[in-house]
Amino acid sequence: DIKGFVFDLDGVITDTSVLHGTAWHQLADYLGVAWSKELADGLKGISRMDSLEMILKAGGKENDYTPEQKVELAAKKNTNYVAEVDKMTPANILPGMKAFLDDIRDKGYLLSLASASKNAPRVLAKLELTDYFPEIVDPASLKHGKPDPEIYTKGAQLLNLDPAQCVGLEDAAAGVQAINAAGETSLGIGDATELGAADMVFADTSLVTLANIEKHMA
Ligand code: G6P
Ligand code: MG
Repeated sequence: DIKGFVFDLDGVITDTSVLHGTAWHQLADYLGVAWSKELADGLKGISRMDSLEMILKAGGKENDYTPEQKVELAAKKNTNYVAEVDKMTPANILPGMKAFLDDIRDKGYLLSLASASKNAPRVLAKLELTDYFPEIVDPASLKHGKPDPEIYTKGAQLLNLDPAQCVGLEDAAAGVQAINAAGETSLGIGDATELGAADMVFADTSLVTLANIEKHMA
C-alpha cells in the first residue's frame, strides 16, 4: 500500500521550471550557444553545474572555460533565477497542487521533497509550503544526480518507508527514470511521449488527485 509521496519541486509544485529555463536560455545566449526545446527539456531535473556542462557541450564549448569560470557562470545564472524566485507568492503554486497537498496530509500520508535544487527551501518559503515538507533531501549530500535513483531512495528513507510504499512525482524524464530505478511508483506530469517511462502520466497538475492515482494503481 502507498504510504508516502516523494515530490519533485520545479515543474511539479510550482512552475519554476519556466524560470530555470529562462535563466539558462539567457546564459546560453551570453555564451553564444544555440537554444532548443530539446536542450531545455534535457536540463529539467539536472543539477546546476551539470546543467551548465550540458549547455557548454551543446555548443562544443566545454573546454573553453576553467573550473573557476564555470562556477562564476553558474552563479550568474543563479543570481538571475533567484531574483525571479523572490517575486513569487503562493499564487505561483500550480493548479490543484495545494488541494492535493492538503488532501494527502489530512489523510495521513507522509511527504518528502526530492528536488535537485539548492534553492528549494527558498522556493517553498515563497509559496508558504515550508510546513508541508519537514523532510527534504539535501541535494548537496548526493553522489549522483537524476536519473540516478539516489535522491528518490533518500526521499523514501527520510519517511522510514520502503520505496514500494512511495509514489514519486516528476515533470522530467530524468526524474521519472530516477523514481523507477528507486523502485517507487512513478507519476509523470506533462507530455506522455516525453514521460513514457512513468507508471502513470497526467497532462497537468490539476489532474493529480488521490482518486485519479487510485484509478491508475487498481
Ligand atoms: C531542479 C530543476 C533544474 C535545476 C536544478 C538545480 O532539478 O529542475 O532545472 O537546474 O533543480 O537547481 P538550483 O536551484 O540548485 O540551481
Ligand atoms: Mg522538475
